[in-house]
Amino acid sequence: MYSDRIKYVGCDDADLDLFESQYEVPEGMCYNSYVLFGEKIAIMDAVDPRKTQEWLTHVALVLNGRKPDYLMVHHMEPDHSGSIGAFLQVYPETIVLAGKQAFQLMTQFGIEVANQQIIKENDEISLGGLTLRFIAAPMIHWPEVMMTYVPEEKTLFSADAFGKFGIYDADPDDWACEARRYYFNICGKYGQPVTRVLEKVAKLDVQTIAPLHGPVLDGEKLAEAVRLYTIWAHYDVETEGVLVAYASIHGNTRHAAEVLADMLRKRGCPKVAITDLTRDDMGEAIEDAFRMSKMVLCCATYDMDIFPPMHLFLHELGLKLYQNRTVGILENGSWAPQAGRIIKGMLEQMKDITIVEPVVTIKSSLHDSDLPALEALVDAMMK
Ligand code: FEO
Repeated sequence: MYSDRIKYVGCDDADLDLFESQYEVPEGMCYNSYVLFGEKIAIMDAVDPRKTQEWLTHVALVLNGRKPDYLMVHHMEPDHSGSIGAFLQVYPETIVLAGKQAFQLMTQFGIEVANQQIIKENDEISLGGLTLRFIAAPMIHWPEVMMTYVPEEKTLFSADAFGKFGIYDADPDDWACEARRYYFNICGKYGQPVTRVLEKVAKLDVQTIAPLHGPVLDGEKLAEAVRLYTIWAHYDVETEGVLVAYASIHGNTRHAAEVLADMLRKRGCPKVAITDLTRDDMGEAIEDAFRMSKMVLCCATYDMDIFPPMHLFLHELGLKLYQNRTVGILENGSWAPQAGRIIKGMLEQMKDITIVEPVVTIKSSLHDSDLPALEALVDAMMK
């Protein structure tokens, strides 16, 4: 760890198949936990129950026979709270620090806490040589979330914020890739709360951020992470370009999407990404949609509606408050094309979405006679 007074006791979970039972994590996951040594000792967060015993071993090694005074609970989602009960069996005299709502959630999750101390924004607890100053961070990404600033170490314990997918040492030189996928899928809905917390944090002298997932950030990596979080929280465009997202049943809509993507590239579009909503990682498709300035949705009609993978994609974009973007549509239908109408209806529920005309309709497969319409759509997307 980066300080004599702060020791890392978190755990990697390299074998996890799906985080939150939905997000692919090919590089695993980590659950971060830290021990702070002042005259008193505070432990910052527990870990996922998959790693309880390993975590308790790490904690015992670092404590080296001493007893912790406090367990700080920043966030009650079970990937962090799931080992609190086991910890209190080993260290029953520890005082648990958490916000009022977090204690309510502990009761709901069946975690019995004998010694509890409710903390709130701006409260301070001195460990003797180190101070815990609490910052409310509601909806990042649950309502009870707190962060802790330790001024003597200029360190912010940021809960889920600034976290990423992957074990602790995954992608040491590319924080943004998996942090972006994590942000938009886990916190994407909460841009306003994230902005409010960024404003609070900007008033502090933070030289190190210690999140609950992913590596500790400092120096240029910290500055870049804050820059990207500011873009993401405002739903601003990070990358000029077009995501072509297609949902194709038998490959004909896919072919049309690939032709469209080629046309965009040939026209000099600065970046073109293409994703198969039936097979590629949905979390990455969500990430790319938020990252880029524009998107074209290519979809087959299905049961007089849209092919379900596209429906899921749009439903998730709506949940995450996708907004402030330009979207084109290509629909396919063999006898009664409906996809364009349904997609438009779903996009109209979102904020500040510009739907590009013309909506292109193909019948069963792309024909030469469809190319002028496709060119017209590309023209409009390039404006
Ligand atoms: Fe890492 Fe919202 O839990």
